[in-house]
Amino acid sequence: MESSSGNVLWFTGLSGSGKTTTAQHIYKQLTEAGQQVELLDGDEIRSAICKGLGFSREDRLENIRRIAYVANLLSKHGVLVLVSAITPYREMREYLRNHILGYVEIYVKCPLDVCEARDVKGLYAKARRQEITMFTGISDAYEEPEQADIVIDTDRQSVHANALQIVQWITRYTHHV
Ligand code: PPS
Ligand code: MG
Repeated sequence: MESSSGNVLWFTGLSGSGKTTTAQHIYKQLTEAGQQVELLDGDEIRSAICKGLGFSREDRLENIRRIAYVANLLSKHGVLVLVSAITPYREMREYLRNHILGYVEIYVKCPLDVCEARDVKGLYAKARRQEITMFTGISDAYEEPEQADIVIDTDRQSVHANALQIVQWITRYTHHV
């Protein structure tokens, strides 16, 4: 985990679990503290360098590979990279562990029924009506991480508390902060 280049903090979890929210919170906090931080959000990147990719297993793998490529470029220059992307398959996370120097896996844990009740973007409702296919947790798998470096509970803990837990971990185990 420790490296002379930067670290890549990879937030994995269901849609609506709080990946973006938590990563944005940390991004803001560390940027204000003068750190070199970048945030790559799956949802956003899909309209940029991953435009045209869908949600088949193959497309998701390609999406993750492209994000990993950019994350590596940034981290090579000492930037602390935050990535928020569902990253639903174990195979993907294994790939990341093998291809990213300073990879830190953060499991953004939240029960499916809670994510569905939040339904921030109305996607769960659409998935239930089968207007969206291959929806993570409903019609496509989310394989729970078994080797996460950090697990945060967004059902019971506040964004603040989770961000603090992560920043403390960064302080303790990396050269950032
Ligand atoms: S993946 O699996 O890691 O490639 O997904 P990611 O790049 O993070 O994109 C997830 C966001 O896309 C929206 N969306 C879907 N998610 C899951 N399954 C399906 N079928 C789907 N269709 C659209 C959704 O807004 C996800 O954003 P988050 O922030 O996770 O809610
Ligand atoms: Mg998001």
